[in-house]
Amino acid sequence: MRVSTFLLEALLSATSASVCFSHAKAAVRDIAPLNRRSYIPPIGKTAIKDVRVFNGVEFTPPQTIVIEDDHIGSFDSRDVNITVNGTGKFLIPGLMDSHIHLSQPTDLELLTSYGITTVFQMSCFNYTACDMFRGHTGLCDFYTAGASAVGNGSSHSKQFNVSPSLLWYPNSDAVEYVDNAFNNGSDYYKITVEDDGPTLSAQVALVRAVHSLGKQVMSHAATIKDYYQVVEPGTNGPQHIPQDGLLNTSAILKMKQQHQFATPTMTVFHYGLVEDPTKAPQLGSPHGSDYKYVRANVGLLHSFGVPILAGTDSIGQIEGAYSTLTLPHGETLHRELQLLVDAGLSEAEAISAATSVPAQWHQMFDRGVIAPGKRADLLLLNGNPLENINNTMDISRVWVQGIEYANVTKNRNAWEDQA
Ligand SMILES: *[C@@H]1O[C@H](CO)[C@@H](O)[C@H](O)[C@H]1NC(C)=O
Ligand SMILES: *[C@@H]1O[C@H](CO)[C@@H](O)[C@H](O)[C@H]1NC(C)=O
Ligand SMILES: *[C@@H]1O[C@H](CO)[C@@H](O)[C@H](O)[C@H]1NC(C)=O
Ligand SMILES: *[C@@H]1O[C@H](CO)[C@@H](O)[C@H](O)[C@H]1NC(C)=O
Ligand SMILES: *[C@@H]1O[C@H](CO)[C@@H](O)[C@H](O)[C@H]1NC(C)=O
Ligand SMILES: *[C@@H]1O[C@H](CO)[C@@H](O)[C@H](O)[C@H]1NC(C)=O
Ligand SMILES: *[C@@H]1O[C@H](CO)[C@@H](O)[C@H](O)[C@H]1NC(C)=O
Ligand SMILES: *[C@@H]1O[C@H](CO)[C@@H](O)[C@H](O)[C@H]1NC(C)=O
Ligand SMILES: [Zn+2]
Repeated sequence: MRVSTFLLEALLSATSASVCFSHAKAAVRDIAPLNRRSYIPPIGKTAIKDVRVFNGVEFTPPQTIVIEDDHIGSFDSRDVNITVNGTGKFLIPGLMDSHIHLSQPTDLELLTSYGITTVFQMSCFNYTACDMFRGHTGLCDFYTAGASAVGNGSSHSKQFNVSPSLLWYPNSDAVEYVDNAFNNGSDYYKITVEDDGPTLSAQVALVRAVHSLGKQVMSHAATIKDYYQVVEPGTNGPQHIPQDGLLNTSAILKMKQQHQFATPTMTVFHYGLVEDPTKAPQLGSPHGSDYKYVRANVGLLHSFGVPILAGTDSIGQIEGAYSTLTLPHGETLHRELQLLVDAGLSEAEAISAATSVPAQWHQMFDRGVIAPGKRADLLLLNGNPLENINNTMDISRVWVQGIEYANVTKNRNAWEDQA
């Protein structure tokens, strides 16, 4: 019998556990961006003139957007230091990837070059190493779960070297595990639901412990059975989506009622089940898995009004046993937007799934929309993404907290070229 665990997720947890951090140490010496940490250069005032601005639904007629230091200013074009000609261009908020696993500090540069200005990592087994991704002014902003609750007998635990002291055991104390994660600086908690992973009663205890701290909890759940376990106790953000069947209406209504959101990570399923089916056994998808369920479930959740967040499960470059897996950072988020549109979201809804929606549901109210006072995380496009979602890849300029990132990707077809 094949394991009903989505092995890529295990690989990703391991990335954070072992692979990436052995690289990260060397990277500190070699890589410039770490020097930028906490350094805020004087920025002054930038006016982007005659640009059409995404308001969540459509693009406004041409107007001027002013960046004042790290935020969007009110309309006042006096004393401008830099003027940008926005004629014929389209301004959207910086994009967010709500499910990622970083490998090395240069990943932040790659992400920024694709206009991705905030990422949410979904596991961290070495807090010192994860902290190195935080606070690089002018680069993509980083948030992370802590050591996720991985069951001691689970596939994740067997195949990857999660320290026994961090594993979840049948008699583990939920409050202690949750406290450890948040005392180590986790931004939210993560539970890895799979065969021999935490049970429903463990899920209930963990969710309760997280909520009693006023924090949010995410859960890996890539099959129907696991998704139900995650939905029932009110886990805030189920990650992935069932690949082996259709969600029933009562589960979806429950998500609505409990104010849950979904980060379906269509990209990783599309990769494993469609683009390179030879990877499917390696990914451990259960018997009967089919991308049609992934697509239909996203469409269903969306039609019922469950908030959908764009996330990729991208892993970047990993050396070793899994070097054959190709799920790069940056371009995959643009790919996710294309797949969300394919599943039934409008282009505007897909862009919102990577901007205002994650800002709201990850409770980061300082970003995700273009409005006075918000962080100046901006992506200027040459083409209209509401006419063709692929135009999010047609990048002109990128700003993170008001600082322009010079080396943006100009390759509209990067995904195609690389595939
Ligand atoms: C921006 O312009 C103002 C007014 O001309 C000037 O006082 C300020 O020093 C400039 N700031 C930068 C960072 O160049
Ligand atoms: C701005 O760009 C447009 C389109 O390329 C061009 O026609 C216009 O002359 C430019 N305006 C300025 C002030 O350079
Ligand atoms: C955690 O990461 C830090 C920084 O890279 C490293 O020095 C340390 O050895 C790592 N700890 C473990 C247990 O791998
Ligand atoms: C998991 O932990 C429990 C309790 O410590 C133990 O009884 C069980 O044998 C463990 N399972 C595996 C597969 O290690
Ligand atoms: C951080 O996590 C480790 C492992 O879970 C735990 O032993 C330690 O007590 C935690 N640190 C704090 C300050 O809670
Ligand atoms: C529908 O979903 C709920 C979870 O909300 C689950 O408990 C129930 O068993 C499901 N019903 C069917 C018929 O699968
Ligand atoms: C610009 O980005 C590309 C792609 O990430 C990279 O190969 C190149 O070295 C970067 N150039 C500079 C000057 O940073
Ligand atoms: C967007 O790009 C993808 C991948 O390159 C391609 O398959 C698709 O047809 C394009 N979609 C549109 C609407 O042009
Ligand atoms: Zn993941």
